[in-house]
Amino acid sequence: EAALMVPSPSQSRPPVILTQDELKKIAAYKAVEFVESGMVLGLGTGSTAKHAVDRIGELLRQGKLENIIGIPTSKMTHEQAVSLGIPLSDLDSHPIIDLAIDGADEVDPYLNLVKGRGGSLLREKMVEGACKKFVVIVDESKLVKHLGGSGLAMPVEIVPFCWKFTAQRLQLLFEDAGCVAKLRTYSENGEPFVTDNKNYIIDLYFKKDVGDLRAASDAILRLAGVVEHGMFLDMATTVIIAGELGVTMKNK
Ligand code: 5RP
Repeated sequence: EAALMVPSPSQSRPPVILTQDELKKIAAYKAVEFVESGMVLGLGTGSTAKHAVDRIGELLRQGKLENIIGIPTSKMTHEQAVSLGIPLSDLDSHPIIDLAIDGADEVDPYLNLVKGRGGSLLREKMVEGACKKFVVIVDESKLVKHLGGSGLAMPVEIVPFCWKFTAQRLQLLFEDAGCVAKLRTYSENGEPFVTDNKNYIIDLYFKKDVGDLRAASDAILRLAGVVEHGMFLDMATTVIIAGELGVTMKNK
């Protein structure tokens, strides 16, 4: 189910070229229209989700929303929400979330996602797995035919203990797909990137399609040393896509 929600500008007007960040903001604001007073909200992480959290803060300040409880998906989002005065809680106290809004790195035609290039995939998966509605907000550059097919990374969070061993096992698992497993590092100093949960991230790069995504997910999760991966299969209920021609909404 797809609906074009904003008509393209008329032919007579000069085309307006929007930046990627402007498109992200448009998708984020559209998603926040689903937010109602009294909701428990999953607050996503990343440059797109940041716009949504800003907007929720703004509506609270203006008194247009009340009694919101936010469940942040990262320390970064936690800090942002605190600075905006959004009341916060956690999954222990609020195990059922009404609505989560978050970005994604890839979205396939079935609304399966790759997330975690920002490094917050574990908390995102816990929070978004506990919500009744999960609205994903992206600009159109995130749309792919097959997950892992964009040439960008598929992140896997692993424990730091013997990370080379786990990276090797991951690479071997997808040998047929030409997989290369790389430890994520900080560009400044080459040190391993450390997640909010004090783990490492292995980024998997594929030369070929990984095939059955559920089988790939199960195989990754069976490896001791793996904490979680960035494939979010069958979790999104709505994807809002902002593009040059307007905003499209796809529902599960
Ligand atoms: C962080 C994520 C982000 O949602 C994803 O990386 C998209 O980021 P951005 O909105 O900055 O493009 O999964 O772990």
